[in-house]
Amino acid sequence: MSLLEVSGLTVRFGRRQVVAIDDVSFTLGEQERLGIIGESGSGKTVTALALMGLLPENAAVTGSVRVRGQETLGLGEAEYAKLRGDTLSMVFQEPMTALDPTMRVGRQVAEVLLLHARNTSGNSRQRVIEMLRRVGLADAERIADSYPHQLSGGQRQRVCVAMALINSPDLVICDEPTTALDVTVQARVLKVLDEMLDAEHTACLFISHDLAVVSQVCSHVLVMLDGRIVESGPIHRIFATPSHPYTKGLVATAQLDKVAPGSPLPTVADFYTRAGATR
Ligand SMILES: Nc1ncnc2c1ncn2[C@@H]1O[C@H](COP(=O)(O)OP(=O)(O)OP(=O)(O)O)[C@@H](O)[C@H]1O
Ligand SMILES: [Mg+2]
Repeated sequence: MSLLEVSGLTVRFGRRQVVAIDDVSFTLGEQERLGIIGESGSGKTVTALALMGLLPENAAVTGSVRVRGQETLGLGEAEYAKLRGDTLSMVFQEPMTALDPTMRVGRQVAEVLLLHARNTSGNSRQRVIEMLRRVGLADAERIADSYPHQLSGGQRQRVCVAMALINSPDLVICDEPTTALDVTVQARVLKVLDEMLDAEHTACLFISHDLAVVSQVCSHVLVMLDGRIVESGPIHRIFATPSHPYTKGLVATAQLDKVAPGSPLPTVADFYTRAGATR
């Protein structure tokens, strides 16, 4: 049985039933890492929110989403809350919107721990500090006592990674988690995420519009265009022999088509140097 089995997932918005994602199907095994790539508006975030049960009221969802065989579409809010605590978690693009600006970050991480933890014994402050250290925040005590605006973007996103992983979920959905960060900070946060997923044996669905970033974290990728999956497979295969015209374009602009199976994947820094990009 797969950890996640998505079948015919379709989301329509509003009274006019505008289709945002159409017949999306894929499976994800335990500890697997799957990227979703596609341009702005292709339906990546809508897919993630549908899995998390976080779509707004005006969304109509059909199809099937099974988590370890159990259908989750149509669950009530309380059941979704439990699922989000025990099994699924999410890291959003903009850590400032994910964090409460009025609360010290240590307390926010502790609240996640206390709300959902399978095991609430022990000192939560200590566990929070330990988790902050594990995501690379060496000065964890001071960070825990800070408000979000007192931290850098990279530090805030590390806090969000700590929050997403502190209850040992089975699957973390990351929606463009490093897009708001500059390239060097981005590379460090991706490395921490990669190490934490490994250490915790956590599966990951990683959304990005950037093939180079996806290749840092994932082994397989889905390519979305206008709400549909147009191509999927191992990242090496996609780089070597993209079949859909859109994917060919992606690979060509990323200049990653020379990646051979088994060779180390280029780093984000490599990519930006080779592509001559200035961002
Ligand atoms: N709340 C909403 N109401 C109506 N339409 C929506 C809503 N949220 C998303 N959509 C539409 O669904 C489609 C997919 O949007 P989505 O946010 O999933 O794109 P995305 O791939 O995440 O893009 P980006 O890379 O910019 O984040 C878009 O056409 C968008 O306008
Ligand atoms: Mg999005």
